[in-house]
Amino acid sequence: MERGFWATLKKPIIGLAPMDGVTDAAFRFMSAKYGHPHVVYTEFTSAEGIEAGALRLMRDFRYSELERPVVAQIFGYHPKAFYKAAFTAAALGFDGVDINMGCPAKNIAEAGSGAALIRTPELAKEIVCATRRGLEDWGRGMEVAQAGLHSAILEYAQTEWAHLGGAPVRRVLPLTIKTRIGYDAVVIEEWIKHLSEVEPVAIAIHGRTLKQLYTGLANWDAIGRAVEIARGSGTMIFGNGDVRTVAEAHERVAQYGVDGVLIGRAVEGNPWVFAEHTATREEKLQACIEHARYFEKVSPDQRFLNMRKHLAWYCSGFDGARELRIQLMTTQSADEVEKVVHAWNCKE
Ligand SMILES: Cc1cc2nc3c(=O)[nH]c(=O)nc-3n(C[C@H](O)[C@H](O)[C@H](O)COP(=O)(O)O)c2cc1C
Repeated sequence: MERGFWATLKKPIIGLAPMDGVTDAAFRFMSAKYGHPHVVYTEFTSAEGIEAGALRLMRDFRYSELERPVVAQIFGYHPKAFYKAAFTAAALGFDGVDINMGCPAKNIAEAGSGAALIRTPELAKEIVCATRRGLEDWGRGMEVAQAGLHSAILEYAQTEWAHLGGAPVRRVLPLTIKTRIGYDAVVIEEWIKHLSEVEPVAIAIHGRTLKQLYTGLANWDAIGRAVEIARGSGTMIFGNGDVRTVAEAHERVAQYGVDGVLIGRAVEGNPWVFAEHTATREEKLQACIEHARYFEKVSPDQRFLNMRKHLAWYCSGFDGARELRIQLMTTQSADEVEKVVHAWNCKE
């Protein structure tokens, strides 16, 4: 089992959970700068899309050095596509690769990806093995041209290397899985036994079934049972679901024996969570401007609309937040955000 950077982290490991449409490079930068989580994951990215050469997906694979260790998360259903996506992630210098076996979205699960893999455990194992082969081939020095990557992806990787002054160091990256406790019923015992056979370094478990989506409460007892099953296997178990603070994460660690906790929604508009800091109004206002500026810098090809939800999340918990939020919802650029924030601040 290749442990990579995971072996250097002190337990309990408290990380930023992957969230599609939220944990993009700009958001992860803010979280890393103001919260310092032990690890961050990218949004999930389609293995089949990468295989087909969909260059727009490479924006999910942008990151800054500040974010390290940063794990690329991949979803899909075809082992061959996972091989190529894993090889690509390694060639782009990520610290680890995570396989999504937990997404409940209809279009994803109906294709047999995400949480649907809980119902096709043999395929899930094949996917893990193919991903590992991709990571090993990269780590052991296979020529990029021989990995069967789409020419557009190959070219992208080579352009990135030119910017970085060379290809990343060859090393076999560690492989992890993120999943749920079941599809329509809780099957965590069988599922974890099954996944342990292919020896991922860690399995992060969101304590809900696919059918539950995000309703009800995360079932931490089921996560606790997974800890028992995985004991002695060498695979770490991270719990996930409804944790809002680092103190709560530590409580879960003490109660359920997990090796770590991933925090997701509680970080929206609150990158300070991991630092256990309550942001002042001034810090939130500054974050609006800094986040918007960084978003424009790192994602010039993205619509500013994608930034607005973050602005809305920052604007809460202080007097007049609602009024400012409404004004920020029509901004089209970081310059406009700065103007609106300053005008509002002068008025207050
Ligand atoms: C908007 C949104 C997008 C998400 N996207 C992903 C994803 O891309 N990959 C993944 O493994 N989980 C994804 N999740 C699930 C989260 O990682 C996490 O498991 C879930 O939000 C529960 O944790 P929390 O209660 O701390 O938010 C997403 C969740 C949300 C709310």
